[in-house]
Amino acid sequence: MCGIVGAAARRDIVPVLVEGLRRLEYRGYDSCGVAVLFDGQIGRVRSVARVANLAIQVGEKHIEGATGIAHTRWATHGAPATENAHPLVSHGEIALVHNGIIENHEELRAELQAAGYRFESQTDTEVIAHLVHSYYRGDLAEAVRAAVKRLAGAYAIAVLASKEPHRVVGARSGSPLVVGVGEKEFFLASDALALAGTTERIAYLEDGDVVSIDREGWHAVDRDGRAAPREVRTVKTAGAAAELGPYRHFMQKEIFEQPRAVSDTLESVATVTPALFGGQAQEQLAEVDSVLILACGTSFHAGLVARHWIEALAGLPCNVEIASEYRYRSSVPNPRTLVTLVSQSGETADTLAALRHAQALGHGRTLSVCNVATSAMMRMTRLAFLTHAGTEIGVASTKAFTTQLIALFLLSLTLAKARGRLGAEEETAHLKRLRHLPTALAAVLALEPQVMAWAERFAKKEHALFLGRGLHYPIALEGALKLKEVSYIHAEAYAAGELKHGPLALVTGDMPVVTVAPNDALLEKLKSNMQEVRARGGELYVFADADTRIATSTGVNVVRLPEHYGLLSPILHVVPLQLLAYHAALVRGTDVDKPRNLAKSVTVE
Ligand code: M6R
Repeated sequence: MCGIVGAAARRDIVPVLVEGLRRLEYRGYDSCGVAVLFDGQIGRVRSVARVANLAIQVGEKHIEGATGIAHTRWATHGAPATENAHPLVSHGEIALVHNGIIENHEELRAELQAAGYRFESQTDTEVIAHLVHSYYRGDLAEAVRAAVKRLAGAYAIAVLASKEPHRVVGARSGSPLVVGVGEKEFFLASDALALAGTTERIAYLEDGDVVSIDREGWHAVDRDGRAAPREVRTVKTAGAAAELGPYRHFMQKEIFEQPRAVSDTLESVATVTPALFGGQAQEQLAEVDSVLILACGTSFHAGLVARHWIEALAGLPCNVEIASEYRYRSSVPNPRTLVTLVSQSGETADTLAALRHAQALGHGRTLSVCNVATSAMMRMTRLAFLTHAGTEIGVASTKAFTTQLIALFLLSLTLAKARGRLGAEEETAHLKRLRHLPTALAAVLALEPQVMAWAERFAKKEHALFLGRGLHYPIALEGALKLKEVSYIHAEAYAAGELKHGPLALVTGDMPVVTVAPNDALLEKLKSNMQEVRARGGELYVFADADTRIATSTGVNVVRLPEHYGLLSPILHVVPLQLLAYHAALVRGTDVDKPRNLAKSVTVE
């Protein structure tokens, strides 16, 4: 999604700005741009093509300068077009880039138009550029402070003024912004990752902060105008420039990295203890009487699996809600609820807003399960579990999901132990099973050739149904999400028992029905649901545990996984569904790692 890089230095900074955009590319964007100050003028280049194209244009137009800002845009207001790409410029004097959404932009636009400002874009961002211009009296930080007071919504901005050749001013509220500290050069970025290779010394700004950088240093103030010296930390970013190795796409690579991601996530887990979730966990978890999981997309599906574990193992009621729904619903807070946020990025706007909403309701027991140590979410909750999936680049989340499940299973065990429901023997058995998972995952990955053969057939379809029951219903949901996300085949998932309550009407010979069939207590029920499909001429594609005795027959295609893996079975069963989506997408020739209309981190509401 949108990305910001800004710099004030003593050298031509354009290569650093462009490299920063390149590092943020994997998040998804539809246009990009850069603006620099040179000889008191703003030089600007924008493109609706890739960052590589922007780099070519920058060279052709001899755009150089020691002070600059750059942006990748994911369209919200106004189509992906050059005139809507950032930086947006006001009167040739102010250039600005923006992440987020300004909710009162229509009202501000009308006010600015009445004052004589002409708009050249359809963006909400242009109002900020003109607003800053309207307040500008020679001090850019002052003008930005005045302008942001008028904004409703979420923003991270970086701004420069032609009359202040060595300065960039930033501000944030609801969208992330960091300061990068170099040697006599200073940077702004929406993510420390953009500055990897340039500086590892990072200060995280807080909501309401306005910061000014120049060649000598940086200075931040909080929303009340008081000095806000945010701590500078050393942040080791893995760098998005990860190599593909023998793989064709990051999605494929990340699917195959799952055994390693799971073992890395388990590496420091010697025993089931609250300490896995942070220093305060012992005290915070002691009185917990329920769990509320908030997340979006794939992370939400991880939460749905965890509900089964938490209720079955710990005996605690567990609710799972889509973050964007929770934040706008009247709910009844319970101070003894453990509010658990699940997110790969830790920057998803809806999930962060749900966390703020929960905190405003008085929820103090908060836990992040997240893959990015430096994310806003990890800093906002009392307790935290860092998954070690490694940087996930493909927009379709795969290894982050399986490691989230590991974290949530450990949480279930921890809560169970705290409540006296987990004996030493059971604990040892669960840990043994967890440690064996990488091997079991490798065995499932070896099924790729069989899944590829199915994918050829799927690629010709426009619709598919996914069925699962119990613990594996969320896995069916995840399989359907993966397929539609990367192959653009319309897919829906149902709890198999629901089939006869409506979706069975869709079943014909032309509708592939993917069935997740572990050898668990619901298997016989699931087999009846499969019969319902067959009786209507539907074709079944079944991922069955080796010990289920479901055999290939007319209209029933079976891929066999290893023997049933008990409560951890969802972690194995999701993998062939990821492979099916990947290979169907490959056959259909879609942009697998950057599917249309989607972004890696959804940092707007
Ligand atoms: O970074 P998050 O886990 O908070 O992201 C949530 C969703 O946007 C994400 O899982 C999305 O659904 C994926 N693209 C699915 O593959």
